[in-house]
Amino acid sequence: MKSPASLSCYPCRVPPWMWAARCYLLAGTAGFCRVVFQALHGSAAILSTPTDNLLDVDDLSVVFDTDEGVLTAVDGVSLTIGRNDVVGLVGESGCGKSVTALSLLRLLPCPPGRIVSGRVMFDGKDLLRLPVGELRAIRGQSISMIFQEPMTALSPLHRVGSQLIEVLQLHRDVSPQEAWATSEEWLRKVGIPDPKQRMYSYPFELSGGMRQRVMIAMALMLGPQLVIADEPTTALDVTIQAQVLELMLEMTQGHSSLLLITHDMGIVWDVCERVVVMYASRIVEEGKVRDVFATPLHPYTQGLLKSMPALAQPGSRLVSIPGQVPSMLRLPKGCAFADRCPFVMDTCRREKPGLRSFPSNRRAACFLAGTGATGAA
Ligand SMILES: Nc1ncnc2c1ncn2[C@@H]1O[C@H](COP(=O)(O)OP(=O)(O)OP(=O)(O)O)[C@@H](O)[C@H]1O
Ligand code: SF4
Ligand SMILES: [Mg+2]
Repeated sequence: MKSPASLSCYPCRVPPWMWAARCYLLAGTAGFCRVVFQALHGSAAILSTPTDNLLDVDDLSVVFDTDEGVLTAVDGVSLTIGRNDVVGLVGESGCGKSVTALSLLRLLPCPPGRIVSGRVMFDGKDLLRLPVGELRAIRGQSISMIFQEPMTALSPLHRVGSQLIEVLQLHRDVSPQEAWATSEEWLRKVGIPDPKQRMYSYPFELSGGMRQRVMIAMALMLGPQLVIADEPTTALDVTIQAQVLELMLEMTQGHSSLLLITHDMGIVWDVCERVVVMYASRIVEEGKVRDVFATPLHPYTQGLLKSMPALAQPGSRLVSIPGQVPSMLRLPKGCAFADRCPFVMDTCRREKPGLRSFPSNRRAACFLAGTGATGAA
């Protein structure tokens, strides 16, 4: 068995499919990754007045150039995340949640992806315009990401210990012995049994839940200000899901803000302070979780909530939203929800409803929001 000092740092010998996620975690190569903003870096062009928000996304639009045409994956998304905030990002499969998250960190494959507009202000600097060299110099400690499937981010060819040690050594001036001790300590913190032994394990020797715990350790060990978790528990069975979610919250509480991408409105209710609902590449509703759950303003959010087992009347059938999401290659001229909306009007098919503000810091993109006509506020 190798001694701590002889566990070599792995120099990114990864297959291409793993490259983006791997580079993101290691934060050592161009264009990808966790991004650190340190106050004195950067040109005036990318600086702006710092706000109380940790992250300020403004009018982000992303397209993919495909064989069938230009696919709009994210259309004019604006959102903010405060310090120590826990924000849920929900929406039907394919609506643009992951592309939004990856764009924040410039992790999109380009081509075919293109960020066509927007600003992503983090600690006063625009992540989308930060020079790569500067990004490289400052990345690694402020934003981290937890992926749905840890095998896409962990190298199957290298021991868990060497992967954790490498992250530390890339970002901290630590000796191999210190890096070893810290990595082992993090495995203990995230509840891996027998961490000393597990440092020598390969990812395939661990269960899915354990691999996700390793990912959590890797994402949090540098103390990021923001953690983006893209469906971190979807690949796990239900009992392990709850444990991993609890662990993630416990580890980030009081230290980091969390953007939690999920399909599960139950998780949003349990852990998030605010929720952002996306539909077909756009934000359709946003607000405090308790407000949105009590009086959803958008018919799509109403449908989502009605389809939640916990909210349905005992003995009643669960309601599903009829119809299908429109093709992102051919989004309609008007409201993208029109074909499925029980309240659709002629105007809805002609014009796109803009995202409007409502009391209590709420926003919704529906012509009827706030009128009471949809049966909600
Ligand atoms: N590399 C790519 N090339 C072409 N289209 C892409 C690519 N990646 C994503 N898309 C498209 O962008 C749109 C948004 O995808 P995204 O992965 O963000 O959805 P999502 O909301 O995260 O869905 P899910 O809940 O299933 O993870 C989808 O229509 C998807 O097909
Ligand atoms: S704008 Fe019209 S179609 Fe769209 S959600 Fe509102 S009422 Fe329904
Ligand atoms: Mg996704």
